[in-house]
Amino acid sequence: MEKISMNDNIQMVPMQEQHIPALAQLERICFSQPWSENSLRSELHNKLAVFCVAEQNGQVLGYAGMQCVMGECYINNIAVFPQFRGMGIGTQLVQTLIEQAIQRNGIFISLEVRVSNQQAISIYRKLGFCEVGCRKNFYAAPVEDGLIMTKELKTQ
Ligand SMILES: CC(C)(COP(=O)(O)OP(=O)(O)OC[C@H]1O[C@@H](n2cnc3c(N)ncnc32)[C@H](O)[C@@H]1OP(=O)(O)O)[C@@H](O)C(=O)NCCC(=O)NCCS
Repeated sequence: MEKISMNDNIQMVPMQEQHIPALAQLERICFSQPWSENSLRSELHNKLAVFCVAEQNGQVLGYAGMQCVMGECYINNIAVFPQFRGMGIGTQLVQTLIEQAIQRNGIFISLEVRVSNQQAISIYRKLGFCEVGCRKNFYAAPVEDGLIMTKELKTQ
């Protein structure tokens, strides 16, 4: 993955070992069932995984990750530290995954999101994801439906 420059010296870089402790902390802040350091670390060696980190002068601001198998890409994770939200970092992280999926000849990208997560849904809609279904009680702690959203990458 090439480095992508953003405003204020924010860059999108591939996830590396030095990011793992901060990302595990971010997971614990954001999710009731957070990924552990070991779960994150295992993706460093997964050829099907694309995990990118938004950083500024070496500080981790957020990250996003997906897996691509036979052209089918699935976004597992996206999170931004609370103090850096609303600056477009989440949007840029998802945009980076879309570009990476296209480079890998992806056919579509899919994800689930809590039906109440308006910030995330706003990003996905803006970037061309459509609501294609709902998984009843998909999430735990608290129990909530999961909206399935998909973006097609090839039209022919
Ligand atoms: C979702 C998340 C990654 C977004 O990160 P971010 O850096 O703030 O994202 P951006 O700044 O690019 O965009 C935020 C969008 O949410 C919108 N938004 C913010 N608060 C909102 C609200 N209360 N209701 C509706 N939309 C809202 C913003 O307007 C913006 O949309 P816009 O660009 O169309 O104006 C961040 O909120 C987060 O880490 N949440 C916790 C983890 C999480 O829920 N991950 C998603 C799992 S599917």
